[in-house]
Amino acid sequence: MTPELITNQFSINGTVATIKPFGNGLINTTYKVRTSESDAPNYLLQIVNHHIFKNVSELTRNIERVTSHIRGKLEEQEAHDIDRRVLTPVKTNDGKGFFKDEEDNYWRMFLFIEEAHSYDQLASVKQAEAGGRAFGQFQKLVSDLPGEPLYPVIPGFHDTEMRIKNFKERVKENPVGRLEDVQQDVDFLLERSDEYKKIIQMGREGKIPQRIVHQDTKFNNVLLDENDDVLCVIDLDTVMPGYVCYDIGDAIRNGANTGKEDDPNLDNVGINMELFEGFMKGFLQETNGILTREEKETLAFGAKLLTYEQAVRFMDDFLDGDKYYKTESVEHNLIRARAQIKLLKSMEEKFDRMEEIVSRYI
Ligand SMILES: Nc1ncnc2c1ncn2[C@@H]1O[C@H](COP(=O)(O)OP(=O)(O)O)[C@@H](O)[C@H]1O
Ligand SMILES: [Mg+2]
Repeated sequence: MTPELITNQFSINGTVATIKPFGNGLINTTYKVRTSESDAPNYLLQIVNHHIFKNVSELTRNIERVTSHIRGKLEEQEAHDIDRRVLTPVKTNDGKGFFKDEEDNYWRMFLFIEEAHSYDQLASVKQAEAGGRAFGQFQKLVSDLPGEPLYPVIPGFHDTEMRIKNFKERVKENPVGRLEDVQQDVDFLLERSDEYKKIIQMGREGKIPQRIVHQDTKFNNVLLDENDDVLCVIDLDTVMPGYVCYDIGDAIRNGANTGKEDDPNLDNVGINMELFEGFMKGFLQETNGILTREEKETLAFGAKLLTYEQAVRFMDDFLDGDKYYKTESVEHNLIRARAQIKLLKSMEEKFDRMEEIVSRYI
């Protein structure tokens, strides 16, 4: 069905003027729906990627619970501009959170957040602080969500133990004969396998709590206003139960790398400590009062952990003949794995300073 016909299915105010493809998201197909009246809002129409997200009903319910809780808290605080400070889902005409068309596309709608922008990369300490603050505010706002835990949208998404187990089996099987040339890198990862099971084990032993985590903490999922101040966090498809250091670790892995995720020149790759500090400062200023001491002590470790996990996943896919990640060359997954290994080495070298930085803000 066309976006025009779909838009009719949703309970919107005003008359539709234009519907155009919008943004540069990689996962969901997105349109901006403009209305003609100046007092009617514009809307964002999206097809949810149900190949990745199998249970769109539960995913939608997670997002509804989280966004209505955040809205309630912002109203309590008498915050201004609330429609720009949290995503607002729009219901279908029969009160549902999404519309499924005859081609099995799942469509949903949000209020369009006006005058907002995002950046793909952290480019300054100010931006790093904003990123940390955005995910910190989010964490604080959802920390007291009542009711049962959120639905685990992608089960085992960050089950590091399982990722390591799969990796070890792949190494043993060596299914496409690629092991020989990369043995040294594989050994580097295997030597560390016990160390990086730590967080899952701490969780199992009840030493750290499961919280609501975002699970896609890239900087382009933070909307900023015209002064680059934080509006809100978007892309809530993966909100689910998990450990806070996974969110923070992935934000650092993504945002505070001096090189690219698939940088073939390893000299470019390393952790940018200024961006690390900015992010941690912003994050901890928001969350210091809600995280436990044990959790705060896992944050710097989280950066290493997520880098390790990603290295394992790239290497695993390389050994498996590139079945999961899209690749542009035979070596692409290996280049990615090596870039993550380099980033991890750089974090290992600077780990004492990373911990010292965190301790300054807790
Ligand atoms: N409510 C909103 N208002 C305005 N822009 C939005 C809104 N939600 C997302 N965007 C923008 O739409 C595009 C797709 O965003 P996102 O939901 O993150 O999808 P993806 O999963 O594909 O990254 C991005 O450019 C993002 O900045
Ligand atoms: Mg996004």
